[in-house]
Amino acid sequence: MSKPVRARDNDFVMTKNKDVAILILAAGKGTRLKSSLAKVLHAAGGRPLVEHVVRACVPVGPKKIVVVVGHQAEKVQEIVEPLGAETVLQQPQNGTGHAMLVAKRAIGNAKFVVVLPGDAPLVRTETLRALIQKHKEGQAAATILTAVLVDPTGYGRILRKGGDAVAVIIEESQLTAEQRELNEINSSMYCFTTTKLWPALAEVKPNNSHREIYLTDAIGLLSAKGETVLAEIAQDSREMLGCNTRADLAGVDHTFREWKREALMRDGVTIQLPETVLVDPDVTVSEDTVIEPCVQLLGKTKIGARCVVKTGSVLQNAVLGDDVLVEPHCVISESRVDSNAVVGPFARMRPNSHVKSGARIGNFVELKKSTVGEGSKVPHLSYIGDTKIGKKSNIGAGTITCNYDGFHKHPTTIGNKVFIGSDSALVAPVKVGDGAYVAAGSTITENVPADALGIARGRQVNKAGWASKKRRELAAAEKPTKSKKKRR
Ligand code: UD1
Ligand code: MG
Repeated sequence: MSKPVRARDNDFVMTKNKDVAILILAAGKGTRLKSSLAKVLHAAGGRPLVEHVVRACVPVGPKKIVVVVGHQAEKVQEIVEPLGAETVLQQPQNGTGHAMLVAKRAIGNAKFVVVLPGDAPLVRTETLRALIQKHKEGQAAATILTAVLVDPTGYGRILRKGGDAVAVIIEESQLTAEQRELNEINSSMYCFTTTKLWPALAEVKPNNSHREIYLTDAIGLLSAKGETVLAEIAQDSREMLGCNTRADLAGVDHTFREWKREALMRDGVTIQLPETVLVDPDVTVSEDTVIEPCVQLLGKTKIGARCVVKTGSVLQNAVLGDDVLVEPHCVISESRVDSNAVVGPFARMRPNSHVKSGARIGNFVELKKSTVGEGSKVPHLSYIGDTKIGKKSNIGAGTITCNYDGFHKHPTTIGNKVFIGSDSALVAPVKVGDGAYVAAGSTITENVPADALGIARGRQVNKAGWASKKRRELAAAEKPTKSKKKRR
């Protein structure tokens, strides 16, 4: 079976659907996840489930978006309200139909209501627009989005009357052995004509083992009354998938990541072994950048053109200019790397660090709140914290800034064209002026003026013949022990 191609991301071309209210059901606990976190707050594809759903709705341009909240209502509100949705509290949660009834007043006089489950985050704006259009054109009382799945386990099944018309939705727990073969599933995404919905919903009884009011039962009632109930099979069945279990979450996450990588590749990014690369939704990458296997690009990471990010690197809210080389196994967090700079391998940039244009930090170098100026190099084995390094300076292997006295952090300032010899400790607060040298192995506790040499170590003394004399002494002391050794 050929894989359906996702046309494009949720676009933010707004349409207007002022006769439509969208209702998102997000009050449930998600018992099957076995979690202290409410289901819709679980993340897939780099965002909480419910956030994906609201984001897909916004460009539809509905009259309003209403989210039914219950479990961890405040946390859900914190996510959806900034996106322009309002919330209604459902307490207790007596089923999907009950959730609708609770939101009736909020939906108000909208002619149509689109209902979406908060746990099916892959739905796209285009699909919602198509649902509304089909519903209006078909002059239906209800239109359901469905999918045909190889494994429909866990979903309510669609029983058709024939053609586009639906007879009933049968929940998994109520299926007969024969009905288990039905593989068209209810996605729980519907468009209703409100004047038809409310009377039908008022008749629904909690006739199930959970004693809940099922929204799905309203469909059967409408159909029995002779109202038009249509079903539209989604082109890409993945959009319809709900998350009831951890395995569902992993599956949905997989799809989101795949879509994101596909979008980047369409935009001219090379991704090697793409299935091993994890990219968050807000990440941007420019043309001709190469991402090697097992890389993670997280948060709002922004990568310029013609960069190479080599294997095993993790970038979190990192900003890279053009032509940057990130060697293998680097961790770059909340930091910037300007054009033509090189980082790694095995480098760590902690928050608020900045490697400027043409600069280089090498293996086993850790930066924290520090700037490495244009063309400067910190090639090996250094800790650089709370430090500003100017242009074209060279920081020798093993240089450590001692920025912490046990109580406070102190700054180090290194000027332009400075040379710090290997294995130096710079005890902050301290300044090394432009063009200065620090002798290898120094412990610098006082400022080094521009163009001076700072040297702070014990003077070397060579004792002639000391080693050979020592060896003779040791050998003499060993001799009588030969026989003893045997005894031991
Ligand atoms: C529901 C449908 C099922 C469909 C499946 C698709 C019903 C009875 N069943 O089953 O036909 O195949 O979705 O994914 O509708 N919620 C509330 N308040 C409640 C109960 C649920 O807001 O009182 C919310 C949940 O938080 C969730 C959504 O409604 O976001 C769906 O509830 P869930 O328990 O996941 O229903 P399913 O068993 O998946
Ligand atoms: Mg569900």
